[in-house]
Amino acid sequence: MIMRAVAIGRYGGPEVLELVELPLPEPKPGEVLVAIRAAAVNPADGKWRAGMFAGFAPVGFPHILGYDVAGTVAGGDGLPVGTRVAAMLDPFIKGGYADHVAVAADRLVAMPDGLSFEQAAAVPTAGLTGSQLVERAVDARPGQRILITGATGAVGRFALDAARRRGVAVVAAVRTSRKAEALALGAEAAIALGEEDWTGVPFDHVVDTVGGDAVAALCRHLRPGGRIATAATTPIDPQGLPATPEFYAVVADAERLGRLLEAVAKGEIAVPIARVMPLEQAAEAQRLTDAGGAGGKIILAP
Ligand SMILES: NC(=O)c1ccc[n+]([C@@H]2O[C@H](COP(=O)([O-])OP(=O)(O)OC[C@H]3O[C@@H](n4cnc5c(N)ncnc54)[C@H](OP(=O)(O)O)[C@@H]3O)[C@@H](O)[C@H]2O)c1
Repeated sequence: MIMRAVAIGRYGGPEVLELVELPLPEPKPGEVLVAIRAAAVNPADGKWRAGMFAGFAPVGFPHILGYDVAGTVAGGDGLPVGTRVAAMLDPFIKGGYADHVAVAADRLVAMPDGLSFEQAAAVPTAGLTGSQLVERAVDARPGQRILITGATGAVGRFALDAARRRGVAVVAAVRTSRKAEALALGAEAAIALGEEDWTGVPFDHVVDTVGGDAVAALCRHLRPGGRIATAATTPIDPQGLPATPEFYAVVADAERLGRLLEAVAKGEIAVPIARVMPLEQAAEAQRLTDAGGAGGKIILAP
């Protein structure tokens, strides 16, 4: 039995992504075989492809990228065949750019009714990262005010939603063209990142999804004792800041993912999807994601 996948045989640009046929994964005990209907393209996919993480986490080739999948159970342990499921895969193993993947059963969440496979695939990594940044990394408390950079992006909008639910006021630092959207999503104020400074009371914490000098400049408005949590790979220069930026890496959390999928299914959180593309166009999908500005997730459909 074989499956179709898009794999890399070496590190490089999007051109190293190749459509291949590989043996159908055989689920081990405690694993479920999922027939993938939709897989998200995340910014990290291009970084793995380019070898940015090769120093501490080299991959074996061929390597199938892709963290986030939604599909139906096709075999293995634990769940009836045909159950609609979504998951964040192990970020070091991955395997989303394929028509099947074997997933540890405890990573899988049954999809709520009414949610499409494309919407479900758009949630796991972005949703878990955004909500964990607010609730775990900085643990913002009701009544506090936090800065969220890139607040209308995939991670940022889940961070904004998590803050709003906790009664935490949000100052959103976004592109000028996204300020109105950030306010509509519930931010108390929106400023153009890199163009406007913050003149209000200091932030209790900073949740960053962009990184770089413009973010560092705003971090100067952090109150002493506050934290700076960043998910971005572009570093924030700590010089002159009230706190040292701390990198936060998402962790799997099926229970939290279930809550996020429910919220999206109920329309409480909008997850814009910019494009749904066939699996064989993964290289073009990554070019678009690498370039930024897509305005939503790019989803691959095998
Ligand atoms: N550490 C972890 O565990 C983890 C997990 C998930 C994601 N991440 C990282 O978090 C970052 C965000 O991921 P994402 O999925 O949310 O990406 P995304 O959907 O592209 O969102 C990023 C947002 O930031 C905006 N942005 C980028 N540069 C900007 C700038 N200079 N000024 C103003 N706005 C800017 C983008 O706008 P444009 O689209 O217009 O550029 C976009 O709205 C990526 O670096 C990703 O690799 C890390």
